[in-house]
Amino acid sequence: MASNVNRVALIGTGFVGSSYAFALLNQGVTEELVLIDLNKEKSEGDAMDLNHGLAFAPSPTKIWYGGYEDCNDADIVVICAGANQKPGETRLDLVAKNVKIFKTIVTDVMASGFDGIFIVATNPVDILTYAVWKYSGLPQSRVIGSGTILDTARFRYLLGEHFKVDTRNVHAYIIGEHGDTELPVWSHADIGGVPILETMTDEQEKLEEIFVNVRDAAYHIINRKGATYYGIAMGLVRLTKAILHNEHSILTVSCHLAGEYGEDDVYIGVPAIVNRNGIQKVVELRLNEHEKKQFAHSANVLKETMFPFFK
Ligand code: 2OP
Repeated sequence: MASNVNRVALIGTGFVGSSYAFALLNQGVTEELVLIDLNKEKSEGDAMDLNHGLAFAPSPTKIWYGGYEDCNDADIVVICAGANQKPGETRLDLVAKNVKIFKTIVTDVMASGFDGIFIVATNPVDILTYAVWKYSGLPQSRVIGSGTILDTARFRYLLGEHFKVDTRNVHAYIIGEHGDTELPVWSHADIGGVPILETMTDEQEKLEEIFVNVRDAAYHIINRKGATYYGIAMGLVRLTKAILHNEHSILTVSCHLAGEYGEDDVYIGVPAIVNRNGIQKVVELRLNEHEKKQFAHSANVLKETMFPFFK
């Protein structure tokens, strides 16, 4: 692993990657940030542009565009590269294209001697995180997908709006696939310790509407502006910070399950404690019967989709 200076290597400086770099710099999370992209001019331009903001940043960050060899000293490699959804496409539609791209990327990163933590953001994120775990040979605790970190944030935002409460005081999780089969854990959703289900007993339709808006949020944004990037970028920074600052934060990320939630050999979004070593522990919520069924369905869809690639 790296020296005593924190280094993040970012692979893929498209919309998500460059928004992540911008948010990372603004929050002063790492001492070094190297940008890597097939399109060298783009990452060189991004490095120049970001460096011009250093005078306004909360702390110094060394930013440059580089190559895979720079991953050698990285504490975290964040992968945002790959094809993204076009209007009408699901996340799972991207699997064949991106699994192939990932094989090359991960092989190149590992050839540098990298021995840190991978964060994966590209879709379908759960399957691509599994791919990184397989191709890298790193322990499962050090390969993390963004999972449902963003869906959980969307859920908390909409609940906060509904109850006119600060989003950060809403405790509620979206788990499962980061995609169409994800589910809300209503049985453990609360605001200031008060269970949401208790306050919304007569509002079944509203609950459903909030969840559907969370689940379909990306489609609504993609139809309007072609891609989503600010929300996920901030979620990735939150995750990076939890790792580099050893925060032991609970975040809904894509983790490898080995018996938890009755599943194994699948990467899927669940709450987990994240610290300097990566995933310290999966938090097992006591789901109700309906939630258990939904979660099992979500895990099955992921397993069936990835089976042809990893059998
Ligand atoms: C999102 O949920 C498209 O996965 C991306 O915004």
